[in-house]
Amino acid sequence: MFNIQLLTGKVYKLVTIILVLVAFSCASTGGGDSASSDKVVYSDDFENSINGWGSRGDETVSLSSDNAQTGDKSLVVINRTSTWNGPIKDLSAILKPGETYSIGLWAKFDDGPDTIGLKLSIQSKDDVYTNIGGSKLVKGEWVYSEVIYSVPSSEYIKLYFETTWKDEGNAEANDLVPFYIDNLVIKRFLPIQDPVTEAGAEADIPSFHTFYPEFKIGVAINSSRYFEKKNKYNELLRHFNGFVYENDMKMDAMQPSEGRFIFTKAEKLISYAEDNNSVVRGHTLLWHSQYPKWFFTGSDGKDVNKEVLLKRIKTHIQTIAGKFKGRIYAWDVVNEVIGDNGELRDSKYLEIIGSDEYISKAFIWAREADPDAKLFINDYNICQSGAKQDLLFELVKKLLDQGVPIDGVGFQAHINISFPSVNEIRKAIRRFAELGVEVQITELDMSIYSSSTEGIKDASKEILLAQAYKYNALFEMFREEAKNGSLTMVTLWGLADDKTWLNNFPTKGRTNYPLLFGKDLRAKPAYWATVDPENLSVLIKAFDAIKSDNEVFGFDDEAWDVVTFKDIMNVKGEYFGDLGLLWLKDKLYIKVNVVDSTMNESDGIKIYIEEHNIKSKKLTDNTIIIDVPRSKAVEDRNDGYTLFYTVSLTEDSGKFNKKIGFDLRINDNGEMHSFNDYSNKQDDSTGNYCSVTLSKLAPMTEADNGTIIVDGIIDKEWNRALVVSLDVETEGITELGSQFRTLWDKDFLYVLLEIKDSVLNDESPNPWEQDSVEIFIDENNAKSVTYENDDAQYRVSFNNLVSFNGGDEVHFKSKTEKTKDGYIVEAAVPMSLVKLEKGLIIGFDIQINDSDDSGVRSGIRNWVNDTNLGYQDTSSFGVMILK
Ligand code: XIL
Repeated sequence: MFNIQLLTGKVYKLVTIILVLVAFSCASTGGGDSASSDKVVYSDDFENSINGWGSRGDETVSLSSDNAQTGDKSLVVINRTSTWNGPIKDLSAILKPGETYSIGLWAKFDDGPDTIGLKLSIQSKDDVYTNIGGSKLVKGEWVYSEVIYSVPSSEYIKLYFETTWKDEGNAEANDLVPFYIDNLVIKRFLPIQDPVTEAGAEADIPSFHTFYPEFKIGVAINSSRYFEKKNKYNELLRHFNGFVYENDMKMDAMQPSEGRFIFTKAEKLISYAEDNNSVVRGHTLLWHSQYPKWFFTGSDGKDVNKEVLLKRIKTHIQTIAGKFKGRIYAWDVVNEVIGDNGELRDSKYLEIIGSDEYISKAFIWAREADPDAKLFINDYNICQSGAKQDLLFELVKKLLDQGVPIDGVGFQAHINISFPSVNEIRKAIRRFAELGVEVQITELDMSIYSSSTEGIKDASKEILLAQAYKYNALFEMFREEAKNGSLTMVTLWGLADDKTWLNNFPTKGRTNYPLLFGKDLRAKPAYWATVDPENLSVLIKAFDAIKSDNEVFGFDDEAWDVVTFKDIMNVKGEYFGDLGLLWLKDKLYIKVNVVDSTMNESDGIKIYIEEHNIKSKKLTDNTIIIDVPRSKAVEDRNDGYTLFYTVSLTEDSGKFNKKIGFDLRINDNGEMHSFNDYSNKQDDSTGNYCSVTLSKLAPMTEADNGTIIVDGIIDKEWNRALVVSLDVETEGITELGSQFRTLWDKDFLYVLLEIKDSVLNDESPNPWEQDSVEIFIDENNAKSVTYENDDAQYRVSFNNLVSFNGGDEVHFKSKTEKTKDGYIVEAAVPMSLVKLEKGLIIGFDIQINDSDDSGVRSGIRNWVNDTNLGYQDTSSFGVMILK
């Protein structure tokens, strides 16, 4: 996974194929700075020597005095005859497998087109080329690019630079211009040690688990020393009423050599739990990781056969489960048996035993040994929909049908602050609960990072607050699901942020803050969100004001049609109205709809603006406060009223991308309801105003009314539809000329995609790596950073294999057809929450996944969103209006 950050601040995300993550979604997010703990491992200013940079073909690579980002010289490539021509250097001695690097450089070109696409690529074998990033160069300007790159195991690692791919026959002079490279710096992310802080756990705060009597709350601990009173973690244990060892009951810890079982540590955990009215989860009887070396190997050094392995499994399970019979509340009998490709994990178990027989046997043997323990199948990345969840579901169903004694499904739930959404997790819990099994969340933590490549960031107040709000929402959802009988226990994967497996993993040099207690062992906002929500700081919301094309004259101006209105709600989710913002030059236009059915003299709204977005304990010189009474309403109705107001900002405020502080407070007969500052301190402090960015409207398209038969044939009806080309090169290389059209009727939004792709491949087990298209829908155009109920991703391969993320799987229809230079997809997309009607505005995007001939995704192209995060974040979708 990679991302590139240009100096303009725009973030481009690129191919995601290198990092193999143990327990992460296939997310790729990025941005932020990666500064603090990096070590420079290579730098080249191209002043004195060419330093081993050579050419890939017949082009010429040399030092040049014509251009320099600093100093006198740079590296130049001329006489290019193919787009893949450019400087290359073998960096195998510097870039080590398993390490993560940032590669930063300046690049420039002077001739030909206004812009060109520079690509950073890696050759790792004679025929393996991977584009790891790229950026748009603007003629005559030095542009900085930075890529974060995790090095895979490979024959060698050669870094090279090329330009946007075109096949040999089609490349023209403009595609083959010379370019310059300067000041290349490669840094390695170093592991960091968290500072030791003295604060220590609070003794006088309530036990967390008492707030959730509906289900058990466990914690993973990584040493039996924690049970000693003098240990600094001891004070934290009382927040939990269930325990699991993070490592000490895994296979290698329990039976390090054949027949030698170690029970002492487990015994300590179990007796501590018994003495403290708590339960124990046993983790884990079988796993493909952290097993003792001998387990799969015979005395001849070769793999044992099926019979021997089954016997070893039986002995391992029955000895341990038998030893602690009646004292373990739940066992993770098997861990992570589903692979990331949505098939049974390709493990030694499967290899030697040849089928899922080892799974059913494991459960049967565990039940025999301890009939009272609840028996779980445990896995990661299953609280989001997808192939992995589907296979686990099918497997559990099948095993239950066969009478295999499975009591529950464990969701590891190593989630992050933006993905998956609380609602997605709820859906997953319900899905499994319907099979009649219990669900437990077994390894909960919430990373502040959305991917392994995201740059280092501080655990700022905002991030910890956002985490707190999500933890709170999550636990409220757990409560409801526990009341429904679906969920019985939630276990946090660690006591405190000082010792979490997510420090320096999966990215070295990056520490994390995923738990309820901090690195100083003190309760974090995530804890207080539940225990004392009233005192939780206000979350500073952020949203965009859209630039209007023309001056806005009133509340019914059509400029408002494209605005996403934001709800005005209190912490409990009660609704008081909504608001929208537009801007042009120095004007900020505000439209507010207030719900208030009783007219009173004090009714009205108050607008607060801090022109430079300064968050201060006091008001600043740039604070504007305006009272607008209900009597000024442009519309007053039985159930409420609408206000329209124009504020003049000082001249330099009205600039594109500028941020201003903003808040709005409704006065309903003396009761205050604020958009952002729930504490209602806006008259004294700008500290809790939200942040509004003066931005541009997302690209827009229109759909005409019309009905289509989804048969893969382009009927005449399509002639009425607007043809929109797919122009955004999100990653890698994709062919030009693909386009889409849309039409709608009361039942469906119809989409026709005509894709240019000369090599069609669907060999990859990952649907997003097959040649396919994706249709993204944000029904309420809320542009949310996580998926909500109304958000959906529909993926259709050129062979009409359909995969979903959200959405209505039952009613969606699609048909595909190969063409001479690619394929077409015809689809009918149902809506879940909104009604298709004239004037409806939805968030919308289209993506093409382009597979190369070996079944690897080598390019992504979109209509609008260039982040490759459309599957979890709708904020960068375009907009569609139904005409
Ligand atoms: C992790 C532990 O937290 C680490 O300390 C250890 O080094 C590796 O294993 N899924 C699981 C857990 O089921 O056992 C893993 O625990 C995290 C992923």
